[in-house]
Amino acid sequence: MEKLQFRRNRRLRNTNALRSMVRETVLRKEDFIYPIFVVEGENVKNPVSSMPGVYQFSLDRLAEEIDEVVELGIPSVILFGVPEEKDAMGTGAYHDHGIVQQGIRFVKERYPELVVIADTCLCEYTDHGHCGVVEGEKVLNDPSLELLARTAVSQAEAGADIIAPSNMMDGFVAAIRQGLDAAGFTDIPIMSYAVKYASAYYGPFREAADSTPQFGDRKTYQMDPANRLEAMREAESDEAEGADFLIVKPALSYLDIIRDVKNNFVLPIVAYNVSGEYAMVKAAAQNGWIDEQQVVLETLTSMKRAGADIIMTYHAKDAARWLEGK
Ligand code: PBG
Ligand code: ZN
Repeated sequence: MEKLQFRRNRRLRNTNALRSMVRETVLRKEDFIYPIFVVEGENVKNPVSSMPGVYQFSLDRLAEEIDEVVELGIPSVILFGVPEEKDAMGTGAYHDHGIVQQGIRFVKERYPELVVIADTCLCEYTDHGHCGVVEGEKVLNDPSLELLARTAVSQAEAGADIIAPSNMMDGFVAAIRQGLDAAGFTDIPIMSYAVKYASAYYGPFREAADSTPQFGDRKTYQMDPANRLEAMREAESDEAEGADFLIVKPALSYLDIIRDVKNNFVLPIVAYNVSGEYAMVKAAAQNGWIDEQQVVLETLTSMKRAGADIIMTYHAKDAARWLEGK
């Protein structure tokens, strides 16, 4: 019989050392941004029921969490504020002493090296739970821009290192850039939630941030999950308006979009491994149905392989520990 001709691809998989030499994607703790929820009140460490391991912290308990993050060598956190009072205009979002502004001040005072990112949106602060100003059931674009710019400036004044607007109004990057520059914050980068889909995967977050819309949904401003070219238009406009990073969100069901954005833009790409993705893995792990450590590291690696340079993830502390072999 004639000798079969084929390539022996398994040669490069034979030992751990070989596999490690030819590995194309490497996950590092430096890749992670850890999301943290800050609430008003005292002595609060309130578990988020749909996100095991995630808590809302009051300022006086926040150090417990940040100490851990810093000790693990995670370079950055993104802060979400959960205010006690809400109103139609989301005034808590741009108040000098709003909950997130206090959180930012606290963290930057104690941990000057930690990169503190502020999520810039109104939905946690509005009584209707939408990300902009509403008139009847309509979410208004342009009137929301001014409030978002004010929010970004107040966060920068509190000491935020990066502004991360997540509201999906048209022109939000332009408005925020102009606001920051006018206030003298020309050096503060904008990490734009450029490509953000209207996703059911945000469900657990809305419990954590108390930001569920009180009527309708977010489909008139967040993107249709069926669309791919639209992601290019969103990334393009944010780049043109001055974004310094582009976020794709969610991550796991949108790995193709992460790759598209990576291939077409030169800005650093951030994948947001969102709350529902975290909840699914945690639920299966708690049932003993999957190996949590392996599934999490595989999932995060897939996001980097897809093109993410940075990953926002609730798994960051665990993943950092596992990467150190702890
Ligand atoms: C606020 C915001 C949301 C998330 C980040 N910023 C929720 C939303 O848009 O409804 C989702 C994060 C997550 O699910 O982990 N606009
Ligand atoms: Zn919002």
